[in-house]
Amino acid sequence: MTIKSDPIAYFQQLYAQVENVPLSNAMSLATASSDGKPTVRMVLLKHVDERGFVFYTNDLSPKATQIKDNPYAALCFWWTTIGFQIRVEGTVTQVSAQESDAYFASRPRNSQISAWASKQSQSIKTTALFQKKVALVEKKFHNQPIPRPSFWSGYLITPSMIEFWENKIHRLHHRLVYHRKQQGWSTELLQP
Ligand SMILES: Cc1cc2nc3c(=O)[nH]c(=O)nc-3n(C[C@H](O)[C@H](O)[C@H](O)COP(=O)(O)O)c2cc1C
Repeated sequence: MTIKSDPIAYFQQLYAQVENVPLSNAMSLATASSDGKPTVRMVLLKHVDERGFVFYTNDLSPKATQIKDNPYAALCFWWTTIGFQIRVEGTVTQVSAQESDAYFASRPRNSQISAWASKQSQSIKTTALFQKKVALVEKKFHNQPIPRPSFWSGYLITPSMIEFWENKIHRLHHRLVYHRKQQGWSTELLQP
């Protein structure tokens, strides 16, 4: 399969061109409630391979709750140095416990601690109170390796659609869309 016939390989080829650009792994993640109300926020792409796109989060967060109720998501990247917008749509599943464990183990200790300390997106009276929670977690795991919290894991977006939008002069932007077929992908060009 040539790179152009495989959108994930094409994504990886472009991603390699922006790997030194700060936050080139930042992507907006759109999810929706079961009654169709959308929410969008940034997350970090931590892994991409032939399966799709993986990010990590708190399993009790609003985004994870929406994914549980409605396991579809959309992603959007904007890579300004090469003038590409990449949109992805697909289904969402949790990655295996082993995959989440391996990634969690690779994180800086302070990030591991804050994953334990945070009831993500729940309200808290003051920042000082959250710092107290962090200190308690530090104390609990003092001088020990920190295991992955049972409420924190990776999510895989298996793409059914990937669009590459390339900035061109005079708004003659190039838009190439891939749709997943039973076998392989179909492609079409869209007007800008
Ligand atoms: C650049 C950037 C990267 C982020 N990466 C993540 C991430 O990888 N995982 C995560 O849970 N939150 C990440 N966040 C925070 C989310 O945008 C969001 O505030 C948080 O996950 C709560 O979202 P929710 O209430 O919709 O679940 C990131 C924020 C920014 C600005």
